[in-house]
Amino acid sequence: MVSVGIVGGTGYTGVELLRLLLRHPQVTVRTLTSRTEAGKRVADMFPSLRGHTDLEFSDLDLEQLKQCDVVFFATPHGVAMQHAEQLVAANTKVIDLAADFRLQDLEQFEKWYGLQHSCPQILKDSAYGLTELNREKIKQASVIGNPGCYPTTVQLGLAPLLQSKNNLIQPSSIIIDAKSGVSGAGRKASLGMIYSENADNFKAYGVAGHRHHPEIVEALENISGQKGVFDSIIFVPHLVPMIRGMLSTIYVDLTDEGANTDLQSLYEHFYKDEKFVDVMPANSSPETRSVRGANELRIALYKPQPNKLIVLSVQDNLVKGAAGQAVQNMNLMFNFAEDAGLTGIGLLP
Ligand SMILES: NC(=O)c1ccc[n+]([C@@H]2O[C@H](COP(=O)([O-])OP(=O)(O)OC[C@H]3O[C@@H](n4cnc5c(N)ncnc54)[C@H](OP(=O)(O)O)[C@@H]3O)[C@@H](O)[C@H]2O)c1
Repeated sequence: MVSVGIVGGTGYTGVELLRLLLRHPQVTVRTLTSRTEAGKRVADMFPSLRGHTDLEFSDLDLEQLKQCDVVFFATPHGVAMQHAEQLVAANTKVIDLAADFRLQDLEQFEKWYGLQHSCPQILKDSAYGLTELNREKIKQASVIGNPGCYPTTVQLGLAPLLQSKNNLIQPSSIIIDAKSGVSGAGRKASLGMIYSENADNFKAYGVAGHRHHPEIVEALENISGQKGVFDSIIFVPHLVPMIRGMLSTIYVDLTDEGANTDLQSLYEHFYKDEKFVDVMPANSSPETRSVRGANELRIALYKPQPNKLIVLSVQDNLVKGAAGQAVQNMNLMFNFAEDAGLTGIGLLP
């Protein structure tokens, strides 16, 4: 059995990791940290876990974490990079759900996260953890930067177009209109997240700039092998009054080559062996509730005009957008079946 530590066990992605890992046949969760709830039984805070675990929250103790085979950081940015070097030296793998190991461009990291990176060499050796697009590197890595939730919908939504050897789209035409449920902002209390501010309301945020923009640009460059052509893409996130779920509507101008290509077949072929990406029939409407609680991303394509494409991409932000993706990465790193612990079906209605 692989022993697991989770730093940040009281948050939404932390408890989602625990929900998934307690059902995983090849792991034991050994330690779960919280600065505020150390000593409290996990099941007393999360009654959904009563009868499934006797764990208590504990203080972050690096020596304890070093005893684990892998540690997940379900914490704000800046926490994992403080500990990664020592964990790697102790032969403990690290999977960070925050942004410390996502952006290779240090200038962009410092600009958007307001922090100097404390272990650039570890960052250099780390792997970006979007399994479907980076499998071989993830298998070899000791440190994984789990992708941001919006960037996951965008990358998997556009990868078949960008990895085609034909020139199918105009990169600068990409417009991403994305929506997230409120659990995307985490469990910490803040005025903007209270019920009376969010229920029966719908708004855009981060329109002038959002941290996921540079991550999307860097990732699309890596997927396509083209530098500098995605800088002017537009990304506007919105907050919708639901708890889980994320939908990105992506508008793209096609080249003549793209307009004359059977894109539905291209997508179906690209993802034919992927367990967690579902390409729906053309003109379908993927719904967030179809992936609620599941490690699944569902895509549908529309061609409203011969040279325009609309890609719809949905996922559960806490599962394929965070904890499920992290477990998928762990499965690869330890040579487990990629779907171990991840076979749950979405909860509908
Ligand atoms: N929510 C999503 O849909 C989503 C999706 C993708 C990625 N992410 C990323 O995943 C990370 C966790 O997100 P979340 O939504 O689970 O956040 P959250 O609900 O706010 O939970 C954060 C957790 O981190 C702990 N924590 C906070 N500051 C800490 C510190 N300095 N040292 C150690 N522990 C600390 C908190 O516990 P205590 O205060 O009790 O210590 C809490 O358990 C974030 O970086 C987020 O950007 C989230």
